[in-house]
Amino acid sequence: MKIAVVGTGYVGLVTGVSLSEIGHTVMCVDVDESKVARMQAGVSPIYEPGLSEMMESNIEAGRLSFTTEHRDAFVDADAIYIAVGTPQKEDGTADLRFIESVAGNIAEHLTGYAVVVTKSTVPVGTNDYIQSYIAKYTDVSFDVVSNPEFLREGSAVYDTFNGDRVVIGSDRAEAASVVEKINRPFGLPVFKTDIRSAEMIKYASNAFLATKISFVNEVATLCEKLGANVEDVAKGMGQDKRIGKKFLNAGIGYGGSCFPKDTSALVQISGEAGHDFTLLKAVMEVNERQQRLLVEKAKERFGSLRGMTIAILGLSFKANTDDMREAASVVLAEELVLAGAHVVAYDPIAIENAKQVLPEAVDYAGSTEAALDGADATFVVTDWDEIKELDTGTFKERLTKPVVFDGRNCFDLDDMREAGVEYYSVGRPG
Ligand code: UGA
Repeated sequence: MKIAVVGTGYVGLVTGVSLSEIGHTVMCVDVDESKVARMQAGVSPIYEPGLSEMMESNIEAGRLSFTTEHRDAFVDADAIYIAVGTPQKEDGTADLRFIESVAGNIAEHLTGYAVVVTKSTVPVGTNDYIQSYIAKYTDVSFDVVSNPEFLREGSAVYDTFNGDRVVIGSDRAEAASVVEKINRPFGLPVFKTDIRSAEMIKYASNAFLATKISFVNEVATLCEKLGANVEDVAKGMGQDKRIGKKFLNAGIGYGGSCFPKDTSALVQISGEAGHDFTLLKAVMEVNERQQRLLVEKAKERFGSLRGMTIAILGLSFKANTDDMREAASVVLAEELVLAGAHVVAYDPIAIENAKQVLPEAVDYAGSTEAALDGADATFVVTDWDEIKELDTGTFKERLTKPVVFDGRNCFDLDDMREAGVEYYSVGRPG
């Protein structure tokens, strides 16, 4: 089929490239000329394992191309995917400016029937709004389908081909069938529902996963007070299939471009609908507290952090991505600088992005060892393999005071004890 994808952020690009990989002819549209030129030359603007290779081979095969012209992509398209961003506004609601702009473009350039497929995460009711918005400006027939994505950054390509389900929300069976047919080569289970339920599935899924994390983080705090070990508690809980073992890793709180934004949007949506989503508000509150927990521990341990040199290992919001959005390292670095510490930070790939969001006073190191050299203590914020695999003796050798605050429970308690490191982690005995 012939498919247009509008927006080449992480969702749009992964979707477009993957749809070309399964045999469709895909044209991706973006307003950024230089980005389009680079992508046309096979250069991926985002770090996503497997994406560049797939991009190159499909461009070469003539199935994948990029343009700045909506018209070029929309001519004869069977489906037009909307994958533009929905940033968070000051009040926590989703900003639909970019969605409206795409809807306007679709209305202007639509030449024949097409299915408009919304990938972007949009508040319940937005797809109906898109339907009426486009219909106001064109007589050409079309349908709108909600097809939310469940991709994790860093494994987005893997997830596209191995996802648990494809959710197709439509109030017209024919339109849903078109999207089902497009996705058939992925061979994934399909769940068809109405438009509003599909929109809700996306928010409810992210909110539930965030709830799991905040829940286990609360249990971790309690474990510390009562002398239990949250890792074993989570393992024991997770063996119950109704609970499941995934997303029960206690840590420094969730970050990224999705959970913080989507939970806060759902609280807003809920409030507007006349319902106070108290549980989700608590989930968000726990997460904010969690991001400050380790620095509190350090203040308790040292009294004052003024004049100390502190290393931060890992800056991105999780491993295998250079994304710094809502990363716990931002809150941590700000707190440390505010407390008068000199911060030296290291990340395998996120340093350039980190420089845009961390306080200016932060210095950067080219390796874990360089960050640790001469520092008084260290914080582990992201569980990159190269950080998890550090020899525990390194802390003793390089830090002036071998004190480690680990927000990701990367190291074995006995190993750290044997190496002579004073080790504080999350929800485990000290
Ligand atoms: C998340 C969802 O997992 C995807 O299904 C969804 O499609 C995506 O948001 C989105 O809405 O686009 P992502 O933000 O890439 O994906 O990252 P996750 O792997 O879910 O991690 C989110 C945060 O939770 C990270 O900061 C991670 O470190 C943290 N986390 C995750 C924990 O603290 N504990 C866990 O057990 C799991």
